[in-house]
Amino acid sequence: MVSVVGVFGGAVLTLVAVALHLAAGSEWQPREDISGEVLEQRAQAVPETDFPEPSNRTVGGGGGAVAAVGGAEGEGEGELADEAAGEDTPAAIPDDEAEVYDVEFEKEGETVEVKENETLLEAGEEAGFDLPYACREGQCISCSGQITDGGNSEDYVEHHTNQMFEEAELEDGYALTCVAYPTSDLTLETGESP
Ligand code: FES
Repeated sequence: MVSVVGVFGGAVLTLVAVALHLAAGSEWQPREDISGEVLEQRAQAVPETDFPEPSNRTVGGGGGAVAAVGGAEGEGEGELADEAAGEDTPAAIPDDEAEVYDVEFEKEGETVEVKENETLLEAGEEAGFDLPYACREGQCISCSGQITDGGNSEDYVEHHTNQMFEEAELEDGYALTCVAYPTSDLTLETGESP
């Protein structure tokens, strides 16, 4: 009998404690949702660009932003297509109009006639030399060689692209043979880099 009273009393006390807790409530209040506002401020802080940059215009953007990216991509593709076609490179010079220069491959011990519309690397490979290269786009220095006639390498070749050598290295005669078209007779030491 005593235990039944005890259990009953305990249950009543528990119920009272729960009721008091619920009545008191909680002081926590959900914060106002400001995520939309923050996204909009970030979108305004992103500067306008005149080249394709798909990720920045999508922040807080809508249909207009997507259209802007589409337009920019279209222009970019046009430029890339022009570059791929080689229209602004010496490679575009027709064979029958191209000047021919004597390039002495010093280590290989041979002088090769190289047209102004072919690179030193291409000419060397056609002559049967096993020359080093990797990207063939002027973006590494695997194909680097040194023009040993003295002075700036750009007095002897035109680099179509050169994303590696600073002026000082060009002054020392270094050239990226994969993108270097001859503009003069020259002597080349292949496999040389700064
Ligand atoms: S092979 Fe990479 S720059 Fe010539």
